[in-house]
Amino acid sequence: MQTAQRIMHFQESVIRKMTRLATEHQAINLSQGFPDFDPPLALKEAAAKAVMDGSNQYSPTWGHPHLRQKLAEQYTARLGWSVNPNDHVIVTCGVTEAINAALLAVLNPGDELLIVEPAHENYIPSAIFAGAKPVAVPLEAPDYRLDPERLAHAVTSRTRALLLNTPHNPTGRVFDAEELARVADLVLRHDLVLITDEIYDQIIYDGRQHIFPGSLESLRERTITVGGLGKTFAITGWRLGYVIAPTRLTAQCRAFGQLAQRLFKILRRIDQGDDRVCFDAELFHERSARVRSKARLWHDDIFQGMGHHALQRAANPAPLGVDRVRQELLDARHLIGAALDKDQRHVTRRLVLA
Ligand SMILES: Cc1ncc(COP(=O)(O)O)c(C=O)c1O
Repeated sequence: MQTAQRIMHFQESVIRKMTRLATEHQAINLSQGFPDFDPPLALKEAAAKAVMDGSNQYSPTWGHPHLRQKLAEQYTARLGWSVNPNDHVIVTCGVTEAINAALLAVLNPGDELLIVEPAHENYIPSAIFAGAKPVAVPLEAPDYRLDPERLAHAVTSRTRALLLNTPHNPTGRVFDAEELARVADLVLRHDLVLITDEIYDQIIYDGRQHIFPGSLESLRERTITVGGLGKTFAITGWRLGYVIAPTRLTAQCRAFGQLAQRLFKILRRIDQGDDRVCFDAELFHERSARVRSKARLWHDDIFQGMGHHALQRAANPAPLGVDRVRQELLDARHLIGAALDKDQRHVTRRLVLA
């Protein structure tokens, strides 16, 4: 019996493996990025109502028209051009599917894709599925700025696209106007397509401003903007992602989307403009102190202690443990999670990087 060689080099997702181990050992899970708070009540109610009201069968392949309409309105404002729900928006099964669709739409076998690293662990398998070669361009500590020379150096005659994640996981960098201008130069000079993963576009702290690369005039025609609702609304399990792009590029992505499943097609009340279910910046501000202490824990203790390599392996910092385990984390160089006793005072078990 023969099985496919295409997946020969793929291994179990590191993130999923760490999650599995964290659950098994009741450890704090430092590897998988899901919010450690519940979705807004109104959102849960809207989903439950949609299911109870009978919204349980197939939706149009490109996504529910109301959802596409809402996204088109938002992205017209964000990108500064007239995003049309029928031509420019495709709803996908999470950001993972959106990136798959974009890469399959753009890359031919043998093409090269620039990936800024550290990067989400799905990027490389997606590139390989498209038959393309992923080419890593590292961000360097301590400031993780995009280095235009390093990017330019990685371009060859086979380079077709650049995959850029901003705001960036796991460094938290929000690439600024100067960095994006250099990216635009490079993309234009080498006739590339820019694919952006902007899953964290609404989760911004300390007055930083996210620039949507697809809003830059020079990049408009050649940017596939990818986003999702999972992190913003704490609904990672609902698998809601999307692609926003000019017609020529969405047409390419749709060809792939035909094959994919739509797991969720509800949220009708959100689509119809239920104001209770909208992004609430205050919600994130309230949580920001907690998030900051987690970020400190991650950055100071884990990253500084274990270095870049570990950061790449444990791509997602949230949800991190409480401050009590800081010293424990400092003491154990390869510790990636810790289980606390019932009083939350002492670490009883450790989860260690293999
Ligand atoms: C940068 C980045 N891209 C993509 C994903 C995957 O998104 P989804 O769960 O919507 O497929 C994640 C999830 O953590 C992520 O951090």
